[in-house]
Amino acid sequence: MPLTITAKVAEPASFRGPLLAIALPGDSKSVPRSLRALDRVYGGQIAAALRTRAFRGGKDETYTLTQGTRRAASRLLLVGLGAAQSVAAVRRAAALAARTAHRQGVGELGFFVGALSAEEAEAAAVGLSLGAWEYTETKTAPPQADRRAPLTKATVLSSGSPGDLRQGVAAGNDLAAGYAVTRHLAMLPPNICTPDYLAQTGRDIAKRHGMKVTVLGRTELTKLKMGAFLAVAQGTSQDPKLVALEYNGGKGAPVVLIGKGLCFDTGGISIKPAERMEMMKFDMCGAAGVLGAMEAIGRLGLAINVVGIIGATTNMPSGEAYKPGDVLTAMSGKTIEVVNTDAEGRLVLADLLSYARRFKPSAVINAATLTGACVVALGNTATGVMGNTQALVDEVLVASRRAHEPGWQLPLWDEYKELIKSDVADMKNSGGRAAGTITAALLLAEFADEYPWVHLDVAGTAYSETDLVIMPKGPTGTPMGTFVEFVRARTR
Ligand code: BES
Ligand code: MN
Ligand code: ZN
Repeated sequence: MPLTITAKVAEPASFRGPLLAIALPGDSKSVPRSLRALDRVYGGQIAAALRTRAFRGGKDETYTLTQGTRRAASRLLLVGLGAAQSVAAVRRAAALAARTAHRQGVGELGFFVGALSAEEAEAAAVGLSLGAWEYTETKTAPPQADRRAPLTKATVLSSGSPGDLRQGVAAGNDLAAGYAVTRHLAMLPPNICTPDYLAQTGRDIAKRHGMKVTVLGRTELTKLKMGAFLAVAQGTSQDPKLVALEYNGGKGAPVVLIGKGLCFDTGGISIKPAERMEMMKFDMCGAAGVLGAMEAIGRLGLAINVVGIIGATTNMPSGEAYKPGDVLTAMSGKTIEVVNTDAEGRLVLADLLSYARRFKPSAVINAATLTGACVVALGNTATGVMGNTQALVDEVLVASRRAHEPGWQLPLWDEYKELIKSDVADMKNSGGRAAGTITAALLLAEFADEYPWVHLDVAGTAYSETDLVIMPKGPTGTPMGTFVEFVRARTR
């Protein structure tokens, strides 16, 4: 059930509801002025918690207070901001508050930090929605008696400027809708989230926001001579889909966002080990990021032109499947020797990058769960960032930090190109284990030679296999935020 977040300039003591979360910084020793009235209703419990250091305001720290009167919220949840109040700390505290409220089944939550800037109010709204997110689609609901009310209503309270609060919460709600699309698609099982499903999601987004949508299948991809994309799709009877969404919000050359949409990656003939193969439903997180970003951009109504393109298929072994040794001719005319059918994402992206040319883009950013090597290099903390234009790389790195999805650049030096030289084609699709993230990006660079381009390897960051405190294990929403922050920054 979606969370409705409203903004209200009000005293925290005026909030009437089951639970009010109050975020406090780590150095609080006494009750801030803005909480004095509330503390009186609570019989001085906030002051006591701070004085006795029962609650210290540390990062991820929570402390619950209750009171019996009908004045003010029935319960308070003190949430620590850590060292100091910052946009990131507000986002995290809001997410933790929402997650706690959702678990407790209170249904409704107030969130108060003090005076919020527009940016902080936005972070609060985004955090609340990230924390309240839960995947329920393919699970049977518990029996009525055991059910807890999902968190469906949240209010961001502020003692600051009403304009900043309203503007921030509105933008936060738009971003939240984008994150919800991305995380939902990423979590869905691969027998439900098929290329057809992604295409239909694209059509729905286009319809909601008046975007032009193009959906191409095997017949059209054949006409376009997309020999690389088609080779990957050769092993499946499901129709591969190229989906392009065109958002016209401004003037000038568009930004093109591209996403790898492997609804499942078995590895193909170079099949993956059975252990944890189910994870490979997540191989469409780049595409999920593009679709989520288009939803958010449509809602925000940004004054800029943006095209979102995804390439959706599954990588399957079969009698018809492509195989090691095959030489493919990509849409651009360049040839690629297949040495490993599990290096399929770069093949799909190669043709999408050629397709992007028709939009005469000012910049192209693609995102893909492209290499296990990126997880080895950067873990689950940073997205791999590579590109052919340093100014654009820098722009994307800034956007990634603003989105709380930090990226880190890896070099695309010519020396690495040796690793993907082929005896029979212009390049081979895998350079082996050494510098695996870089060689994958270097193959993409061969097809992104007509415009400034950046590649995001989100193999380690799109999906978390551990609980992250503010969100359960599962899809994180990355790279949806980076895409939107990049596009947004270009409108400022
Ligand atoms: N989708 C995978 C990348 C991946 C692997 C992400 C493991 C997260 C965890 C990609 O299609 C792939 O299989 N890449 C290969 C490339 C290799 C064959 C050159 C890899 O990383 O092992
Ligand atoms: Mn693969
Ligand atoms: Zn893959």
